[in-house]
Amino acid sequence: MKFFVDTADLKEIEELNDLGLVDGVTTNPSLIMKSGGKILDVTKQICDIVKGPVSAEVTATDYDGMMKQAKVLAGIAENIAIKVPLTMDGLKACRALRAQGRMVNVTLCFSATQALLAAKAGATFISPFVGRVDDMADDGMEIVSEIRTIYDNYDFKTEILAASIRTVNHVKQAALIGADVATVPAKILKALYQHPLTDKGLESFLADWKKTGQTIA
Ligand code: E4P
Repeated sequence: MKFFVDTADLKEIEELNDLGLVDGVTTNPSLIMKSGGKILDVTKQICDIVKGPVSAEVTATDYDGMMKQAKVLAGIAENIAIKVPLTMDGLKACRALRAQGRMVNVTLCFSATQALLAAKAGATFISPFVGRVDDMADDGMEIVSEIRTIYDNYDFKTEILAASIRTVNHVKQAALIGADVATVPAKILKALYQHPLTDKGLESFLADWKKTGQTIA
């Protein structure tokens, strides 16, 4: 499973990229707002750091507006994936952008049938929002699982990008289901390393090592 980092924070991206953990980046208007930067500048800087797909989202809601904005966003770098919402105009834009050879991430997906439409529109990525479904006391991962089955049934090439990931367990579940990508906040990516027994084990190994008086040289 590929890891995308779900942030527009350049420091976070740089740090995780240095660890070799970043296969791509997803941004959205809220993350751009949080970064405090201008969308074109911030996105360009992200693309300078990360070679994999970097999702940049249109904010127009009509087809013509989306296509105009997509042209501007695609001009930032070769590795831009245009993010469009799962609406009728968004899916129409998805099809047109794919015909132009652009990568497209269809976002704000909350059901398997929406994901089926995105695949039929030729989406490169479909982003089911797991955490936001869980917030409604429903099961977000169940939707990812349904999408996996449907895409495998028909051999759709659209990659499942599990989004709105809130916990380490979400990452594990996405991997068990076979999501192609999980887009994960930096905090959760770092939490994947953590285990109390790793810390405890390291502490006791180092204490015993000290007692030997040896060095490795
Ligand atoms: C996906 O591309 C979105 O940017 C993101 O995963 C949304 O997550 P949130 O529900 O935590 O805002």
